[in-house]
Amino acid sequence: MSICMTFSFSLHHTDGKARTGVISTPRGDIRTPAFMPVGTAATVKAMMPESVAATGADILLGNTYHLMLRPTAERIDRLGGLHKFMNWDKPILTDSGGFQVMSLSDLRKLTEEGVTFKSHIDGSKHHLTPERSMEIQKLLGSDIVMCFDECPALPADRSRINESMQLSMRWAQRSRDAFGDRPGHALFGIQQGGLEEDLRAESAEALRAIEFEGYAVGGLAVGEGQEAMFSVLDFAPDQLPVEKPRYLMGVGKPDDIVGAVKRGIDMMDCVLPSRSGRTGQAFTHRGVVNIKNARHADDPRPLDADCACPACSNYSRAYLHHVFRAQEMISGMLLTWHNLHYFQDIMQGMRDAIAIGRFAEWEKTFHAGRAAGDI
Ligand code: GUN
Ligand code: ZN
Repeated sequence: MSICMTFSFSLHHTDGKARTGVISTPRGDIRTPAFMPVGTAATVKAMMPESVAATGADILLGNTYHLMLRPTAERIDRLGGLHKFMNWDKPILTDSGGFQVMSLSDLRKLTEEGVTFKSHIDGSKHHLTPERSMEIQKLLGSDIVMCFDECPALPADRSRINESMQLSMRWAQRSRDAFGDRPGHALFGIQQGGLEEDLRAESAEALRAIEFEGYAVGGLAVGEGQEAMFSVLDFAPDQLPVEKPRYLMGVGKPDDIVGAVKRGIDMMDCVLPSRSGRTGQAFTHRGVVNIKNARHADDPRPLDADCACPACSNYSRAYLHHVFRAQEMISGMLLTWHNLHYFQDIMQGMRDAIAIGRFAEWEKTFHAGRAAGDI
């Protein structure tokens, strides 16, 4: 791996609309398409950072909203930054806070300036603006900083989607201005516009005029369903620059991820593998397995015969069932490890297939395995 003091993206191969390449940062390379595990509160829940790295993750996602409330960005800065604080030395991308304010906080008030809200933890009052979000993400030491945006809940009427998108584009300019000149760090713009092709095009145009190191597709995976999401992904990535990374925010299930990569997406993040790991749901090469189900109680077989993770190499379904039922902590640890390993396995499979021009065959095998079902 070359040590490089700048941020750059190099596209190595394309196969149809699917792409594979490498994002280079001073903290290491990110192989794309990349899946980013979510480390909201300075931890990927139930995982040691070295275990997260062992699953194949090149980058983690952190959250401005959670960290500004607890333990605060200023405290993390005093303690040497988020990487040192959480013992993760590879790249970190941080979301900007606006999206989480809308979904988690109480009593939000949105104005041109920004958003005022009450903490979901202790009810204390806080203010976020594009400028403050950039300041917090800088204090955290984030490698990839996201613009401060607003994402309307769907369904919403067109005029509401339009007004919100226009506001996010003004905030994108303010984010760019406040970010400043920070070599080795990147600022990504976030496209909005709901399900409307022309609003998405206008948003993409506004972001391209400002110029970012990468571009996210925001405002999806908010309840519109896979069919609607894919119909937007049939045009949205094409509206963004071909030579910059494209990041689909908050997605998704394994088949969402594969469908997004097929349509030209390079990066994704989702709480699904880690959250499901704690509720007994495992994603496998043969579909979803609910380990709490009584049919696993006597089963000596591994969770996923095609998986090389520690949970599948060293434990039976019967053991995983037992520790889940007994609410032992190792249950969440092993299932999270497996799920993260499985998601990274899919990403590696897609990267390899795209590199040799065989994405379509890979996709067929992926769907066939899942259709066969868990037997
Ligand atoms: N996470 C999922 N969707 C979004 C979005 O539209 N904006 C931001 N900032 N984060 C997200
Ligand atoms: Zn496994």
